[in-house]
Amino acid sequence: MSGSPTITRPRPVGIPTRGTTNANRLRRADRWLVHSPRVLAALASAADPLVVDLGYGRLPVTTLELAARLRVVRPDITVVGLEIDPQRIVPDVDGVQFRVGGFELAGLRPMLVRAFNVLRQYPVESVAEAWAVMQDRLAPGGLIVDGTCDELGRRACWVLLDRDGPVSLTLACDPRHIDRPSDLAERLPKVLIHHNVPGQPIHSLLSAADRAWAASAGQSVFGPRHRWRAMLAELRAAGIPLATTRRNERDAILTVPWAAVAPDATPG
Ligand SMILES: C[S@@+](CC[C@H](N)C(=O)[O-])C[C@H]1O[C@@H](n2cnc3c(N)ncnc32)[C@H](O)[C@@H]1O
Repeated sequence: MSGSPTITRPRPVGIPTRGTTNANRLRRADRWLVHSPRVLAALASAADPLVVDLGYGRLPVTTLELAARLRVVRPDITVVGLEIDPQRIVPDVDGVQFRVGGFELAGLRPMLVRAFNVLRQYPVESVAEAWAVMQDRLAPGGLIVDGTCDELGRRACWVLLDRDGPVSLTLACDPRHIDRPSDLAERLPKVLIHHNVPGQPIHSLLSAADRAWAASAGQSVFGPRHRWRAMLAELRAAGIPLATTRRNERDAILTVPWAAVAPDATPG
């Protein structure tokens, strides 16, 4: 008598870490995703619009929020939440699935991977390999968002990657809750945080943003979002290659191509 067929699943790659999460704390990244021309084009072109939320934490709340926001731009999207900690797997809800998985993405081939507040808990030496494992699993044209934010999602930073490497860095905040743009340095993705020292491009960018923020202080009378936009105009005038996205009035966003912040490997 033959037994039931054996299903071989890839062994989850990674280590369980703290499961801290919070309702709505990834809203700025989600809103950016649905305004980013590159992400929108990838989702629109996907024959099978599969999205993975990697490392959703002790509650699946931000995965459900991601699904709701992405369904506005692509209603037939499939969202799968993956967690390396099997105890955090919950039953499927509203068509959103939850499975055990790590950087190997449980063998899925997604068009978009969001990994927020996951790699930040790993040693910096692990980042390149984790990225490579995920990049290798992407559907053609697929993208990864590797980001970090604070408990309430007022300060967030993320890297967008495609199969070939990092594409851009985005800084996002509620400008009512910062003294200066470099306050976001504490939330830089792992790959950049140790490079925020004089002489490195990320340090130069944050310093230029602080100067432009100070120069735009007069605009505060119109509100902090107005001041942020004035800061962006100053930075553009200074030659910083800021990306333009479709209008997103709510968030203070600054996106630059990765080349503008890629760590300089030349010893000082
Ligand atoms: C701090 S929580 C982040 C939760 C949610 N993404 C957020 O930002 O609110 C990190 C979660 O990632 C999980 N994790 C760590 N490494 C992982 C990996 N390689 N693959 C999948 N999940 C992972 C941990 O078990 C933990 O539950």
